[in-house]
Amino acid sequence: MENNLDQIHQNGLAEIEATENSNDIQDLAVRYLGRKGILTQYLRNISKLPAEQRPAAGKKANEIKTILDKAFKRAAEKFASAGSAKDDGIDVSLPGRAAPAGYLHPITQINNQMCDIFSSLGFDIAEGPEVESDYYNFEALNFPKDHPARDMQDTFFVSEDVVLRTHTSPLQIRIMEKHPPPVRIVCPGKVYRCDSDLTHTPMFHQVEGLLVDENISFGDLKGVLTTFVHQMFDEQTSLRFRPSFFPFTEPSAEVDILCVMCRGKGCRVCSHTGWIEILGSGMVHPALYENVGYDADRYTGFAFGMGVERIAMLKYGIDDIRKFFDNDMRFLEQF
Ligand code: DAH
Repeated sequence: MENNLDQIHQNGLAEIEATENSNDIQDLAVRYLGRKGILTQYLRNISKLPAEQRPAAGKKANEIKTILDKAFKRAAEKFASAGSAKDDGIDVSLPGRAAPAGYLHPITQINNQMCDIFSSLGFDIAEGPEVESDYYNFEALNFPKDHPARDMQDTFFVSEDVVLRTHTSPLQIRIMEKHPPPVRIVCPGKVYRCDSDLTHTPMFHQVEGLLVDENISFGDLKGVLTTFVHQMFDEQTSLRFRPSFFPFTEPSAEVDILCVMCRGKGCRVCSHTGWIEILGSGMVHPALYENVGYDADRYTGFAFGMGVERIAMLKYGIDDIRKFFDNDMRFLEQF
């Protein structure tokens, strides 16, 4: 029993030494000195010893109790003091954990890059409503009612005369109505079409451009778009204009760039043509000037509109547009 007491003494001090925080100390104190603690049990069992051993054992046990009690208090004070490097399992000397920082969605990043390029060319940024009247989305852009060109824009109708805008082109009218020429703007924003597959989502983003002034020619359009393509992709990315039709431009053209994947050799992405369409454009139709009260004999201008997702897909080599909107962090974190 004597040996046993020495053991309790030594083990107790060693365990106190090994504690790492004030919780450990509290637990340990209960284990030794609590109601069912090791030393408490020992003191209780002294009555079972032969009578002549009891006084010495009792004295020694009480001394050890005092020693351990003091050691517990000292350890507790050590952990409580502010300078303690180890407290409640937290090592305050370690560098803090960085809070996860948010960052911009890849579509926002590309949208910003596109706007920055046009800003550097002197274009202002303008925005407009996503719920749009039939007038601004179609009528004023020279799409008469029942014109087949409306069919190309799979429209979400809010009511007979109100739609979710199918393109950012209504901004052309809204801007020209408010501002006399010259105007030089780009309009980024969400647009909506009832369409969904590998390359279409019901909501996507466009950037619209409009420049109207005296003596603006198709050559100016070509210059601005060439600069844009070279800055967005690189100087080796050539572009070509293909005749097309839009009710609000005359003449109209679609612009293709040399396939960024195969550099014109022909691959799956460009359907083996070597070229990829990136935008629609043209010279502003005089009917629009009439609708907004501009002098069609004095002013000319160009407009263009392109999809942000399409540019992002080409830039990053992504073959499924829906990945942008799945909110899968493993995808989004790569940008
Ligand atoms: N708004 C057209 C579309 O979404 C794109 C477009 C074509 C915009 C020609 C233009 C333009 O400004 O001149 O399909």
